[in-house]
Parts: sequence; C-alpha cells; structure tokens
Amino acid sequence: MRLRPLNFGARRCMSWVNSNNNNIRIVEVGPRDGLQNERATIESNDKIEFIQRLANAGLTTIEVTSFVSPKWVPQMGDSIKVASTIQRKDDVTYCAIVPNAKGLQMASEANIDAFCVGTAASETFCKKNWNCSIGDSLKTSESLVKEMRKIHPDAYIRGYLSNVMGCPYEGDVKSFIVLHLAEKLLEMGVTEISLGDTIGVGTPVKFSNLIRELVSIVPADKLAVHCHDTYAQALPNILLSLEQGIRTFDSSAGGLGGCPYAPGAAGNVATEDLLYMLHGMGLSTGVNIDQVVDAAKFICGKMGRTVESKVGKAWKSS
Ligand code: HMG
Ligand code: MG
Repeated sequence: MRLRPLNFGARRCMSWVNSNNNNIRIVEVGPRDGLQNERATIESNDKIEFIQRLANAGLTTIEVTSFVSPKWVPQMGDSIKVASTIQRKDDVTYCAIVPNAKGLQMASEANIDAFCVGTAASETFCKKNWNCSIGDSLKTSESLVKEMRKIHPDAYIRGYLSNVMGCPYEGDVKSFIVLHLAEKLLEMGVTEISLGDTIGVGTPVKFSNLIRELVSIVPADKLAVHCHDTYAQALPNILLSLEQGIRTFDSSAGGLGGCPYAPGAAGNVATEDLLYMLHGMGLSTGVNIDQVVDAAKFICGKMGRTVESKVGKAWKSS
C-alpha cells in the first residue's frame, strides 16, 4: 500500500498553531456516551451533579442524555428527569440524542432545544443501533431536522456519522461512503457533523487522509471529531485533524464511554487528556482541567471506580 506523505513536523505545527484559529471547542459527551453503556444504574441526581460540575469547569457544549428507548439503552431511561432538572447556564448548550419523533416529543417535554441525530457508514451497525437501514436513518434524520428547525430555527443540531474508520460487524469502511453521507447530512441542514470512530480503529495516516478528503467537500468548521480510544489512537488522530483545520472535538471526562451496539468499543478520548495536549500546544479551550478531573473523580466514585485516564491518574489538583 502506498501511503501519502505526512505533512506533519515541528516547524509546520508551529506555523499553523500561530496563524490559524487557536480556539478549540470541546463537546463533552460524558453524561451520554460516557454513561450509556454502564450496567449498574447511576442515580439521576448524580448524573445531574456530574453535568453541573462539567458546566462549572467551562465546558460550553454538553451532551446531557439521549431520548432513546429505555429498552434499547436502559441507562438513559431517566432522560426527561435529567434534562429537565439540570440548572442551566446561559453560555452552555445542553444537547441530547433524538432518534425519532417520540424522542423529539420527549426533548420538548424536557425543554431541550439542541439536538443530535444519527446515521452510520455501515448497514449492519445502523440496523443494530438505530433499528433501520442507512437510507431510513437519513430519512428520519431529515424529517427531524425539518421539525426541529420549525420549532427552533437557529437550533444547534449535530449529525452523528458513526463508523467512519470501521464497523464492529463489517470491518473496513470505504471513505467514499463517509463522504457521501457527510454530504447528505450537510444538505439536510445540520449545524455540524460529528465523525465517529466508534470502535477506535483509526490510525493516523488513514484518519488524516479521510479528514483531508472530507474538508475538500465540507467546511472544516462544520466537522467535529469523535474518537473512541480503544487502541490509544485518539490523540494522534486528533492532532492530525487539528492540522487539517478541525477545531471541534468530542471527549468524555474520565475517558468513559462506549456504545452498547458496538462490541469492543472502549471509552471516548478523556477530556482531561485532550485538554492537557491542547493547552500544552498553546491552544485555548476555556476549560479548567482541575475541575474536569474533579468531575471525572466524582462520577467514577459514584460507580465505585477510580479514574483510569492518563491525566486523571497523574493529576495533582492545585
Ligand atoms: P424501535 O424498537 O424500532 O422503535 O427502536 P419503535 O418505533 O418500533 O417502538 C418500539 C417501542 O419503543 C415502543 O414502545 C415505542 O414507544 C418505544 P412499546 O409500544 O413497545 O412499549 N420507543 C421509544 N421509547 C423512548 N424513546 C424513544 C422511543 N422510540 C420508540 N425515542 C429506536 C428505534 C431508535 C428507538 C431504538 O433503536 C433506539 O433507542 N436506539 C438507540 C440506540 C442508542 O442509543 N445507541 C447509543 C447511542 S449512538 C452512539 O453511541 C454512537 C455515537 O456515540 C457516535 C459514535 O461513537 O460513533 C453517537
Ligand atoms: Mg460514541
């Protein structure tokens, strides 16, 4: 296989860090992706406190829950309670997954006005996760986006595109499928597309090549990267995405996460690990790493565990 040369080097890195937008937006997915796959029931009040702590840490976009079927994802069975009880801060966007009309009705009951719809780049995963084909997931997403925009014309709506690097059932995913679906999501009017390496199989050259192809058809500021860290490739992949102009990254405090319908998926990249790298490169996030580590310790403590992320273990709070 011929690899494209990597355009990454210290000098080049310095030039893009200094000349481009140095502000990074983190989408904290801990309360949803981080907790959805936990077997033991987590008290709603603990989820609410976790969200509160994340907001206090300076995270300005937090995915708080998902309005999905509790038969499919029991841990999210308290979605209305959690979403309607959190104390909202004006500068924070509280979003949640909405898979269908029933989910939208629940979101409205919980006063949620920022949404996430979803599709996937592999048929088998789409069927297992959303109980429909890719085509049907696009139709549903399109009608949801229309409905959401009718009620909230300026709503923040993210379109999750899962399995961009590989599928737990079908293996390799071709980049032309990802590109095609990204175009479809863009056409239906989502605010941004979150590119999910759902099972964390992407490695830097492959990941970087996909992002390069994507930014030639989708503006970089409409793309977010969502890396599960199964094989410790999340930070290298994020680093190369930065080089391609991506400035929005999904992460989860404590590195929690996984999808019940993606066997083998480990947690998301830990927010604190990501912050450590970004801040060390002179990039701004507006997020306080001490408070993120505290939030991670809080929720892991409620689950009877210690924080397993690298920074979470090494960090000495000031
Ligand atoms: P379905 O069974 O096809 O739905 O599920 P249905 O319309 O046939 O209804 C069946 C029953 O479910 C009915 O109840 C409905 O009322 C109920 P019954 O009459 O049997 O009592 N129902 C609902 N209940 C609550 N909320 C709803 C809802 N809809 C129907 N919204 C459905 C279709 C989409 C609901 C199901 O497949 C589902 O919930 N899937 C969600 C799976 C999920 O949450 N996966 C994890 C999140 S995605 C992820 O982690 C990837 C990501 O992180 C990115 C990445 O890493 O790549 C985002
Ligand atoms: Mg995920």
